[in-house]
Amino acid sequence: KISLNGRDFLCLADFSKEELQYLLDLAAELKTMKKEGIPYQPLLGKTMGMIFEKSSTRTRVSFEVGIYQLGGQGMFFSNRDLQIGRGEPISDTAQVISRYLDGIMIRTFEHEKVEELALHAPIPVINGLTDKFHPCQVMADFQTIIEQKGKLEGLKLAYVGDGNNMSHSLLLGCAKMGMNISIAAPEGYMPAADVVEMAEKFAEISGSNILITDSPVEAVNGADVIYTDVWASMGQEAEQEQRVKIFAPYQIDEKLVKHADQDYIFMHCLPAHRGEEVSSDVIDGGHSVIFDEAENRLHAQKAVMAAVMG
Ligand code: CP
Ligand code: NVA
Repeated sequence: KISLNGRDFLCLADFSKEELQYLLDLAAELKTMKKEGIPYQPLLGKTMGMIFEKSSTRTRVSFEVGIYQLGGQGMFFSNRDLQIGRGEPISDTAQVISRYLDGIMIRTFEHEKVEELALHAPIPVINGLTDKFHPCQVMADFQTIIEQKGKLEGLKLAYVGDGNNMSHSLLLGCAKMGMNISIAAPEGYMPAADVVEMAEKFAEISGSNILITDSPVEAVNGADVIYTDVWASMGQEAEQEQRVKIFAPYQIDEKLVKHADQDYIFMHCLPAHRGEEVSSDVIDGGHSVIFDEAENRLHAQKAVMAAVMG
């Protein structure tokens, strides 16, 4: 029997295929219970602190609503609210707030900061996005793919765009779950070598195929899922103009999707820039599942919170 009680949720690499599947099954169950109006409140009386050093729509709303639905309470902090913003060490902050809280969700820049927080906090820490990883998003993505396609194993996901946090978490998640993944990015914007190396090790065990290329057509060829993300992530606003030029050949448009399986689904973690990484006809077209994907942030994160904090 699988128990994730007390665990941090920082990176998909830290979890086995069975543990990730357990969370996905729980997410599906919690979604059904919610739709049927059956209450499930394992976090009654518990409080989760939510530290946001970057903007958020989906993560903030879905975590706060999610903890409330589970019987607990969320407490929001922007980077101006805590003394961390004025230089209080993360290690002190972690030990102090752990005396009050039952869990911490953090969205920040350096992944190492989240690791340091988790190291010093005896309570579960959940990664709500760093420059390197976005694991909660991928749990919602996988829940959505299972709803649409009935499975993960053996399917092909093509990610076209920047080799960023989304590409990293998708790589690790697919490699863990036995899903094939191809990534097309321009030279200089490829996923980080250490993440690719980790994913390749997991893929050897799960049997998934990994392809890293600079060719969008090659990546999308026969894909069941086409995925993209913004060309300039949070913190890279100054590079926006330059990136729009470099990434222009990587737009997902009607011409590119012709290379995918005819029943492909289009996914995007959002927020999206129509006319940049994806054309309006694709993101607003019949193959797009972006709003189911966004909804599943709620259910997938409820599963994570219930499992680690319950
Ligand atoms: N996809 C995602 O994490 O969205 P937000 O930045 O709005 O939270
Ligand atoms: N890569 C994007 C994802 C946003 C959810 C960013 O980090 O800004």
